[in-house]
Amino acid sequence: MWRSEVYGSYEVDVNTYNIFLLYNYSQGTLTSHGDSWSTIRNFTVKNLSSLGFGKKCMEPFILPDIEELVDSLSKEVGNRVDFKDKFYTPVTNHLWNILTGEEIRDKKFFRETLTSLHRSLWQPIGNSIWFLPWLTELFPGLTGLNWIKNDPSLLHNEVKRQTKNNASDSSLNENLVKIFLKEIQKTEGDEGSHFHKNKGDNHMKGTIINFYFTAAEAMTNTLNWALLYLSLYPETQEKLADEILAVIGSERSPSLEDLINMPYTKAVMQEVLRISSTSPFSNFQMTTQDVTFETYFIPKNTIILANLYGIHHDPNSYPEPEIFNPDRFLDETRSRDAPPPFLPFSVGLRSCPGQTFARNVFFLLLVSLCQKFEFRWDPNVEKPSSDFLTEKCNVSFLRFTPKFKLVLGWREKFGSIRRMSAAA
Ligand code: HEM
Repeated sequence: MWRSEVYGSYEVDVNTYNIFLLYNYSQGTLTSHGDSWSTIRNFTVKNLSSLGFGKKCMEPFILPDIEELVDSLSKEVGNRVDFKDKFYTPVTNHLWNILTGEEIRDKKFFRETLTSLHRSLWQPIGNSIWFLPWLTELFPGLTGLNWIKNDPSLLHNEVKRQTKNNASDSSLNENLVKIFLKEIQKTEGDEGSHFHKNKGDNHMKGTIINFYFTAAEAMTNTLNWALLYLSLYPETQEKLADEILAVIGSERSPSLEDLINMPYTKAVMQEVLRISSTSPFSNFQMTTQDVTFETYFIPKNTIILANLYGIHHDPNSYPEPEIFNPDRFLDETRSRDAPPPFLPFSVGLRSCPGQTFARNVFFLLLVSLCQKFEFRWDPNVEKPSSDFLTEKCNVSFLRFTPKFKLVLGWREKFGSIRRMSAAA
């Protein structure tokens, strides 16, 4: 059941029981609800936009981090590479700067922070922690509750440090923490304000953590799915590389302006977002009043999750949904009156506020990687079937790839040049 006018309206709101509450993340964009949510979300989105979030002006800041990644991967050509945490820095470095005014200098510390958070936050959807919170209190070790309570402290402490920095160092460039601090100061005498003293402070810290952590995990995971599928469908990878080499060549860095001339690349990105459904569900939401939708009656206080994975894997909309086939997004039928639903970032008031940033960074990274490298499935390892991929991925708030390693090769050596010589 899906209708944006019901789902995205005021009639549903974020549920008060939420795994994030266990982290003391009860404030911020992702986990608050009602009036405080809309105030904080609007404030955050408006100010992030004024800082260039998701805009083309981010390009010169993100590209050097991508180049650094390409350089470091160059040293691994010929090896079997695990890409699990390779993308954290290019995805988050500039974002962290916009959020806090600082660059990520100690990359190892941030990688460790994210790795420990990753372990605790992404409890499988079947874990009792989601549905039987009382059980987790009885068995905190077994159910992962201990991790959940302890692991976020590294990031919490880092955000606290950034807040202090911004309060004392006026030379830091404009950033979201600084803007929040000004608003908190402005509303010092207004107890009803969502920015008032501790309330404002909690919203600020929660928002920084929500944005940073969600970006790091959702993007890293999407890129991992992309490389995994491209290695399993080498002809698709070659077609993608051909378009990149034809439009951009092998030396120039990609620019967001190139996308308009790269329909196949766009289709590959869409197909990755569809088949992976990195974010398989919407956030937990709850009806705030009785709702009648078509023949269904949904009483007030019912928890609802939109099944985005189900929408993207419905064979009526996407025939043979487990096949990775970017052509389905090039098909003329897409431009018919009612193209199949495509909602990787959800829809409605609570849809993903990071989607433009996500699409742009996905494009820059995917193109930069496939321009230089070829990603091959190790011939000595059996290729996973689509059933295997479905069964072995960890489904949580995000849908994570099973563990895999790919053989990294040079694009020039193994890509178009090889095909050209074969043709000659
Ligand atoms: C490919 C990458 C991404 C995907 C597929 C994705 C998808 C989603 C989805 C499905 C939701 C839930 C919407 C709902 O409950 O209806 C969401 C929420 C959210 N996303 Fe993303 N996202 C991605 C990247 C990002 C990035 C890069 C950021 C930040 C920089 C971000 C920040 C957020 C936040 C803060 C929310 C909560 C919004 C709210 O409740 O008001 N996401 N995202």
